Amino acid sequence: MKVIRDALQLQKIAFKHLKEGDEIGLVPTMGAFHNGHVSLIEKSVKNDDITIVSIFVNPIQFGPDEDYLKYPRPVKKDLEICKKNHVDYVFMPSVNDMFPKAHKTFVEVKTLQDIMCGAFRPIHFRGVATVVSKLFNISCADRAYFGMKDFQQLKIIEKMTKDLNFRTKIVPCPIVREKSGLALSSRNSYLSDEEKSLSLNISKILKEVAKEFKNKSLTAVKKKAVNKLKKIPNSKIDYAEIVSAKDLSPADKNTKKAVFAVAVWIGKTRLIDNTKMTK
Ligand code: PAF
Repeated sequence: MKVIRDALQLQKIAFKHLKEGDEIGLVPTMGAFHNGHVSLIEKSVKNDDITIVSIFVNPIQFGPDEDYLKYPRPVKKDLEICKKNHVDYVFMPSVNDMFPKAHKTFVEVKTLQDIMCGAFRPIHFRGVATVVSKLFNISCADRAYFGMKDFQQLKIIEKMTKDLNFRTKIVPCPIVREKSGLALSSRNSYLSDEEKSLSLNISKILKEVAKEFKNKSLTAVKKKAVNKLKKIPNSKIDYAEIVSAKDLSPADKNTKKAVFAVAVWIGKTRLIDNTKMTK
């Protein structure tokens, strides 16, 4: 396994692999790996000849009052996990290399970037789309792996990939959960024991209401979930939305495949989760 810090060097390596007929998989991450990340890496190692994992805590996707500085960076442990899982290259650029002061180009996915999480984190998806575009260009990836916990992110990346004619195929990967149901997230490490046990309610509530999607009206399903979410002590709901799984448009009675997506604060930690609902 090679650790590469220079974008041009990785791009040259990627071109060489493509020329030799290798297919390249990219797992874009901000590090602080949990089993959700490992599941993405495993998929790429299985599907692709070459697996590149990027570890980059991307400053331009964090708002001024967000957790950029405190975001966990257990680099040594992350590298051990990559090695153990047969990653070929780890790309770990510096902030200055990715976004020097002179950087002036940003990618926006209009409308999709402004709803749900985007309504509360206005620059977030512009930062994500921009860094992912750069990573696609640097890695020349045939496939890139994204977890479905960040469902809105996944849809935005899919749209961006189509609109900008990237050759990279997006591979959506299922949410990985603890036995308790809690969706794995690097931010779970911010939770105290008490907050963690409160946060288990989120997935429980989603699971419960998803069952009722077939028989009850959307309004009734949403109302029930919101009422239950509101009752979690020490919590605040940013949003709870039932949207089309295809394009994040608001679900209606004709929507066959929907996603119930929520963002809920437990104490000072913002958690997102979602569940698929089918008719
Ligand atoms: O999901 C993440 O970890 C990040 O948003 C991503 C896709 C690596 C971009 O920084």
